[in-house]
Amino acid sequence: MAKLIIANWKLNPATEKEAELLASGSDIEGLVLCPPFVFLEKASAELKKAQLGAQDLFWEGVGPYTGEISGGQLKEFGVKYVIIGHSERRQNLGETDEMVAKKIKAAVEKGLIPILCVGETKEEHDAGRAQEVVERELTIGLSQLTKSSIDQLTIVCAYEPIWAIGTGNPDTPENAVAMAKFIKKTLVTSGHSLSPTVIYGGSVTSKNANDFFKHSEIEGALVGGASLKANEIKVIVDISRRY
Ligand code: PGA
Repeated sequence: MAKLIIANWKLNPATEKEAELLASGSDIEGLVLCPPFVFLEKASAELKKAQLGAQDLFWEGVGPYTGEISGGQLKEFGVKYVIIGHSERRQNLGETDEMVAKKIKAAVEKGLIPILCVGETKEEHDAGRAQEVVERELTIGLSQLTKSSIDQLTIVCAYEPIWAIGTGNPDTPENAVAMAKFIKKTLVTSGHSLSPTVIYGGSVTSKNANDFFKHSEIEGALVGGASLKANEIKVIVDISRRY
């Protein structure tokens, strides 16, 4: 199966013009572009081959929730995927596992494909607690789904060790493979027949992409910094096609 490459632009770029240029340069088959909300419409207009994703959503549909965006609103823009529980939101905005669970449920109900981000801090990693943290984030994150919705669910799980994000210091491919296996095993043993697409994120570039993609367990990548250069993300997608 083709690898899934997701470009997470985060709070970039600064202007609409730059967003248009980046989107048109990144219109590649097999790529999901996640621009900031305000650029979704312009980015969407540039895309013929790439698909559109969002970086977050709120769990309610409409109502008095200042500053929030709902899954239904995202669908109006042609959004197919939505990143949920990114560590930058967990750390900077206090997003909890329980909030993540509500967002996952809302995304599934709206027919959006959730990209559930999980991963441990440096301290948790050094203390040998990575699996414990990932297991908790997965279990609570999916806890609001009913058994019937889970069994037919298309979901992406992004293993993103926090210490590897934006640091230029990626995890080892061996560790990422072990965690990908752990994620699949955790979801099987938790009693549902859920088989997520497991991808890796954290300082993926064109230089190291092959080291991850050559492992069948790594089914794609969530790419931050390197997705802000159209040429770079193109090379990453090209590398993924070797497998
Ligand atoms: P990075 O970000 O590629 O810049 O490390 C990845 C992410 O946070 O999704």
